[in-house]
Order: sequence, then C-alpha cells, then structure tokens
Amino acid sequence: MTRKKLIAGNWKMNKSGTEAVELVSELVTQLGPQTEVDVLVCPPFTALETVSRKLEGTSLKLGAQTMHAERSGAYTGEISAPMLRDLYVTYVILGHSERRALFGETDEVVNGKVLAALKNELRPILCVGETLEEREAGETLKVVQTQLEGGLAGVDAAQAASLTIAYEPVWAIGTGKVATAAQAQEVHAFIRELLGARFEPSLARKIRILYGGSMKPDNAPELLAQKDIDGGLIGGASLEARSFLELVNAAA
Ligand code: G3H
Repeated sequence: MTRKKLIAGNWKMNKSGTEAVELVSELVTQLGPQTEVDVLVCPPFTALETVSRKLEGTSLKLGAQTMHAERSGAYTGEISAPMLRDLYVTYVILGHSERRALFGETDEVVNGKVLAALKNELRPILCVGETLEEREAGETLKVVQTQLEGGLAGVDAAQAASLTIAYEPVWAIGTGKVATAAQAQEVHAFIRELLGARFEPSLARKIRILYGGSMKPDNAPELLAQKDIDGGLIGGASLEARSFLELVNAAA
C-alpha cells in the first residue's frame, strides 16, 4: 500500500509573527499547488493565526505543537482543541520528547490529549522514542511500545485513520546524530506491527509513521526510501525555506 508522504515542520519556540509569515509565504510560493507530498507547518501558538490566514486556499496544512486535554477552564497559559480548530489547525503534535522531559508529560497525560484531539477532529501526531541511555540498555523497543500503547489507550479503530505516529529517538533530536536508515526502519516496522495488533493490520498499513531527529536534506533520501518511513518531523531544517523545501523534494 502506498502512503502519501508527510513532511512536517516543527518550528518549536522559534519565529516571531513577522518571521513566520515570511517563511510560510516563501513556502507557499515555492510549493505552488503540488499535491505529491503533504506538507505541514507547526508554528508556535502566537503565529498560528497569521500563518493560518496565509495558508488559506493553499495545499499546506497547519498544526500546533501541543494542546491541553480539557476544552476550557482554569488552566492558565494553556490552549484547547476547540481553540486550535477555531484557527483552522488540523494537526497537533503530542507527546514530543521535549514536552515529556521538560514539562513532565506522562503517557497518561499524552493519552488524554490524544483522545481530546480525536474527539475534536484534530489529527494527533503522537511522538515516541528512546533516550540514549535506554538505547544502550537495549530497551528501545520496550520504551517505544510503552509510549505507543499508553498514548493510544482508548482510541478505537474508527479513529485510527486520523493518527500519525512520529518515531523520534531523543538522542538524535537537535544533535546532528541521525539514526541510520536501518535503525529507524527497524523501529518503524515494529511500530507498524504494534499498530496492527492494536487495531488491525489493514488499518496499520494506512497510518503514517514519521521519522524525526536531525533529518536533513543529505540524510533524508535514504531514510525516506525505507519501507515504513512515511515522512519526517523536522525541527532545525524546517526553520529555513531552502532546507525544508529540499526535504519536501526528497519525499516526492
Ligand atoms: O520535532 C522535531 C524533532 O524534535 C526533530 O528536531 O530536526 O532539530 O533534530 P531536529
């Protein structure tokens, strides 16, 4: 089965509103009406509205980097799924390792967000991945399985088609140390197997599994050629139009 590749830019805590519009305008111009690859940008909350206006009528998709599981209430500083929907956001990154490590997000917290995103018709990108210590201890698959099953608790088969999974080895994020294509493929195949057991194999074959962690134009072709790698979740290389567009081209 051919899955359309998805190249997603996670801008993290970068870009003012003006810088965000500059970058996205360049992407819109350069990409034109291409539909070969799905292209997603995930700016910080403060730039979502301006970027959303810029993307109107284009093929680029808009995502957020996190959200709260509740719809509304006394959660100072938080943003809910309906608020994202209001800005025409369609994807949301959940359980990124930076959220897990720096903001204490557990699998249970991530799961609450995944369920809330699905309920509000947002497409979650559930991030999983091991630390260097865990890899060296031979625990990679165990960690990925725990995060995946924990994050997907209570998700039913009808919702499975809206899911995207991102495998991001923590040791490869922002470090310039990329997983080899074989290391990444091994984990991606394992994730697909788990999804098959959790839902059913035919559904698992439809779910995109992205690789994230120092993906750059020079290493992307080999990674994207792997059977179970369906795109990338890109940090650093998504902050400049040239490198991001090269990644889109590599996926085409
Ligand atoms: O969400 C994106 C990942 O954390 C990858 O970041 O491409 O800067 O390593 P990176």
